[in-house]
Amino acid sequence: MIDCRAEIEIRDGTDRISREELIRGVAGCHGLLCTLTHQINKEILDAAGPNLMTISTVSVGFDHIDIEECKRRNITVGHTPAVLTEAVAELTIGLLLTTARRVREALSVVESGSWCSWKVLWLCGTQLSNKVVGIVGLGRIGLAVAKRLLAFNVNKILYTGHSEKAEVTLSDTDATLTIAPSVDFNTLLHQSDIIIVCCALTPETNGLFGESAFAAMKKNCIFINTSRGKVVNQSDLYNALVSNEIQAAGLDVTTPEPLPVDHPLKKLKNCVIFPHLGSATIEARNEMWTIAVRNLIAGLNNEPLPHPVY
Ligand code: GLV
Ligand code: GLV
Repeated sequence: MIDCRAEIEIRDGTDRISREELIRGVAGCHGLLCTLTHQINKEILDAAGPNLMTISTVSVGFDHIDIEECKRRNITVGHTPAVLTEAVAELTIGLLLTTARRVREALSVVESGSWCSWKVLWLCGTQLSNKVVGIVGLGRIGLAVAKRLLAFNVNKILYTGHSEKAEVTLSDTDATLTIAPSVDFNTLLHQSDIIIVCCALTPETNGLFGESAFAAMKKNCIFINTSRGKVVNQSDLYNALVSNEIQAAGLDVTTPEPLPVDHPLKKLKNCVIFPHLGSATIEARNEMWTIAVRNLIAGLNNEPLPHPVY
């Protein structure tokens, strides 16, 4: 049982709350439980007013919250790390396979009735075994992805990122794979057959993948992003895909979300887009909500948050 002394306003319905509704609703609140679909910036903090003590987001990422401004106002901020690591890693592998094996094209062939017969090179994709994989951001999620790649007999894993790890050796009963210490970004771009982006969105990673990054990749490179859309310059990605500068892309995150119906990336056969499904398992979401509510209650009680952002 939770000792609950707060008055809670729960919004009915699952459609996205409008900005106006959020601004109206937050006025005078001591706590705010939010998701990543809203920018929690000065405007919202001002609308809340001086009562606001704590913000709890139901996400691991917190790039939608102005953390510096929260610090200035002594507002604690909590998030939900760790509990979605497995879900996002599984989805990342699913997106990689979907992209590498052209599953989207294959499904549309079956659905549209244009499946004729088995043909030698028809819908041939790329296999993962013996490939060099570059992981951008070897945090919890990046490492969980690396562990799963071991089962696919990849040749080598390279990574870049802040969390410098000594050599990491992954092993199961059949295989071991050593991830060497981090390489520089250009080495990763030049050497990887598959690039998987698992980093957080920060000022350093914002727009990290633009024209020059795509130009440096191998022509057969498969680019996967399950972090945040803003890590990628989408028009540069579009150009790279159209001109076959890279082979294919799989995106679980875009800018904006949802991507407009007529967005050019949606028309490309070599681009697979998922609607931000990374943590969308019943297991992960249950745990995320539980942690988010625990953060919120601790914040309202002026206690240390179980999972603080800072
Ligand atoms: C999902 O993208 C999250 O940050 O939880
Ligand atoms: C970062 O979001 C991580 O958990 O790897």
